[in-house]
Amino acid sequence: MRELKANDVFKPGSFPEHTYISRTSSEFSYSYEFRLRQALNTSGFLTSVIGPSKAGKTVLCEKVIGQDNIVSLTGSDFKYSHPFWVTVANKVGLSIEGEQVQTTSTVGDRLPGVSQSILSSMKEKFITGKDQVIEYFKQNNLVLVLDDFHYASEEIQLEIAQQLKDAIRKEFPAIAISLPHRADDAIRKNPDLSGRLSLINIEPWKPDALQKIAVTGFDALGITIDPKLVETLAAESLTSPQLMQSICLNLCLLLDIDNNMSIIKIEDPSTLQTAFRATTTNLPYKDIVKRLKSGPSTRGQKRKTFSIHDGEEADIYDLLLKAIAIDPPSTALSLDSLKSRFDEILGNHPSKPDKNKIKSAIEQTQTIIDTSGSIYQVFEWKDEMLYVLEPLFLFYLRWGMH
Ligand SMILES: Nc1ncnc2c1ncn2[C@@H]1O[C@H](COP(=O)(O)OP(=O)(O)O)[C@@H](O)[C@H]1O
Ligand SMILES: [Mg+2]
Repeated sequence: MRELKANDVFKPGSFPEHTYISRTSSEFSYSYEFRLRQALNTSGFLTSVIGPSKAGKTVLCEKVIGQDNIVSLTGSDFKYSHPFWVTVANKVGLSIEGEQVQTTSTVGDRLPGVSQSILSSMKEKFITGKDQVIEYFKQNNLVLVLDDFHYASEEIQLEIAQQLKDAIRKEFPAIAISLPHRADDAIRKNPDLSGRLSLINIEPWKPDALQKIAVTGFDALGITIDPKLVETLAAESLTSPQLMQSICLNLCLLLDIDNNMSIIKIEDPSTLQTAFRATTTNLPYKDIVKRLKSGPSTRGQKRKTFSIHDGEEADIYDLLLKAIAIDPPSTALSLDSLKSRFDEILGNHPSKPDKNKIKSAIEQTQTIIDTSGSIYQVFEWKDEMLYVLEPLFLFYLRWGMH
């Protein structure tokens, strides 16, 4: 038996105790852990953490604050009908100031038919409740983490920002976590909070940091892995530590390393390919790929197809996804590089699509993305560049069955 099991070491869905990697922010040349500690020690400030999906925002908070000291609420936990402080109090099992607080809203001024005197007594009670919560957090060393703040409606975001503005003056420790591009303008662009924010921008992961996850993890399992394979693992993980954790875990499961003690070295590149394919089985992109491949409606007309290898016929929308998927994996592709990828796939086909045709296919696909649900937001065409927004989608295109 090994000392640790593969799923203790590689944790794609939770806190990676044995494979936690500390990174340095290029903006400040300090580690993110230092930045967060510094922010939390600057009392009177609110901390705003922004970074791509699955880049380690929650895990960073868990590392620095400790799971026991985090009170985590997400943007969708807040309801307009429920005052902010009541929601926070409920979360820590505190009951504040009885029913009035529960039934009114902090923006009670908008309630019709409530007299001013009742309103002000409600507000008074409310303030005591709020102070109670703030005290409780301070005494117990708790930090409020508003995770995925962008899930709250704009109206609720503003209300929360308003409440926090007051509370941070009283040294209430709070962090708001958001995705970039999604408005957390309620915080970063709020004039009342300007000069009172600690800003932490989490960058996408680079290959050297991703490599450390694999090296550290296999080392903890008593297995050495060929550095060339580690490089390939990092390239396939794109910018995602979660993908790296997931591929490594699948590699261990396929090799049955928990039971097979004779494995002390991994050096066969073909095992990686099997692990990549196994890692795609839980990814939810099948229908999305199907939709994007079919392109815009042709009103019954047949689209021109090109024969590619093995007699497969592909139209321009199929080709676009293939061009995004081929080697080397990249999350930012210029029109020129897409054109050469088309050329590579089509070889010496007599009528290869030119750049204009490719561009218009990308624009059509972007329209499909823009008019579909949020899970469709997998890439973005901007300033003549195609950016893959969701690394897991590109990984699925490369290795999934579709
Ligand atoms: N510092 C890190 N070291 C190693 N793995 C990490 C690190 N940060 C994140 N991960 C991996 O990525 C997964 C997603 O991280 P998470 O913090 O949930 O992302 P976010 O909150 O940004 O969406 C984690 O469960 C873990 O597997
Ligand atoms: Mg998170």
